[in-house]
Amino acid sequence: MTNENKHIILTGDRPTGRLHLGHYVGSLKQRVELQNSGKFDDIYILIADDQALTDNVDNPRKIRENIVNVILDYLSVGLDPEKITFCVQSALPALHALTFYYMNLVTTARLSRNPTVKAEIQMRGFADEGLPAGFFTYPVSQTADITAFDADVVPVGEDQLPMIEQAREIVEKFNRIYGETLVLPKAMIPENESQRRLPGVDGKAKMSKSLGNCIYLSDTPKTVKTQINGKMFTDPAHLRIEDPGHTEGNVVFMYLDAFCTNEHFAEYLPDYSCLDEMKEHYRRGGLGDGVCKKFLINVLEELLRPVRANRQKWEKDIDTVYDILLAGTQKAQKVTNETLARVQKAMQINYFEDRLVIDEWKKLLTTQK
Ligand code: TRP
Repeated sequence: MTNENKHIILTGDRPTGRLHLGHYVGSLKQRVELQNSGKFDDIYILIADDQALTDNVDNPRKIRENIVNVILDYLSVGLDPEKITFCVQSALPALHALTFYYMNLVTTARLSRNPTVKAEIQMRGFADEGLPAGFFTYPVSQTADITAFDADVVPVGEDQLPMIEQAREIVEKFNRIYGETLVLPKAMIPENESQRRLPGVDGKAKMSKSLGNCIYLSDTPKTVKTQINGKMFTDPAHLRIEDPGHTEGNVVFMYLDAFCTNEHFAEYLPDYSCLDEMKEHYRRGGLGDGVCKKFLINVLEELLRPVRANRQKWEKDIDTVYDILLAGTQKAQKVTNETLARVQKAMQINYFEDRLVIDEWKKLLTTQK
């Protein structure tokens, strides 16, 4: 029935903008590791344009344009189309059908309690303007995304844990009512705490385009430099170099926590052997923000340089990029249609799969007399 011995990954992103360093440490880096681990039978990455439309109903252009940005960012960080199936949500009608069925397995009260959706409703002003039903129910559509691929592992950011929780409840309920049909998914979040939640350069909780506090994977070295030297929040009490400084809540150190390794010290800042030593000096006083920022720029450039170069290469070959997405989406269509057929059969709504229902109807009609 389901692929019980298989390990399948499904994850995805909303195509609302270019991907940034927060995406990198929060998910992309882990995806590259998972891809190279050889532990998975299939890995699917879904560009969730339908989900993006749930809160961008009046901005279809933005979603359309960012499909190419997102796939380019994927390819640039080293996600390999030989190992990963990239697909576009709107081209997978099975997901829409599954969403409609799953909608009956969840109550509006349960949906109202989803903490991520609750926070997003506040952030987007839907509490005052009115809440689109599609946005309110997107966790159900996300359950369709996950189950349609029989995914048992869903690598996501921490903020997505409530979605996976809801998906699990829907799967359990479905299987209870209709028999073992769907695979129960598990969330996987990055191990390293500092990588789970990278703040914006201004110290605000999250990188967001509207706040202008992002460093994008495709930013030029000059932009990266201006974001760090011009905007990155340090310790406001650390006025003179000699003053003792705080490393907690200091964005430069939060980024170093997420990105730097001991090898970076050997290469760019041999005064210290590791981050703890550097932090210790900063706290004691005598280490200026300028040195710290310059080090961070070197660390980030080492990561960004090859990503940028890859992007330039792929940008010159957009036809191939399109074909990668097309081939992936076609494979995903096949896989998700098969799941839909299995689901419809379990729900006894598979009248046209064969002619067997005719016999049932005939029998019914004779006993009904
Ligand atoms: N909601 C996810 C996000 O905002 C994107 C997403 C859509 C997703 N469908 C998914 C993630 C399925 C994991 C699995 O990041």
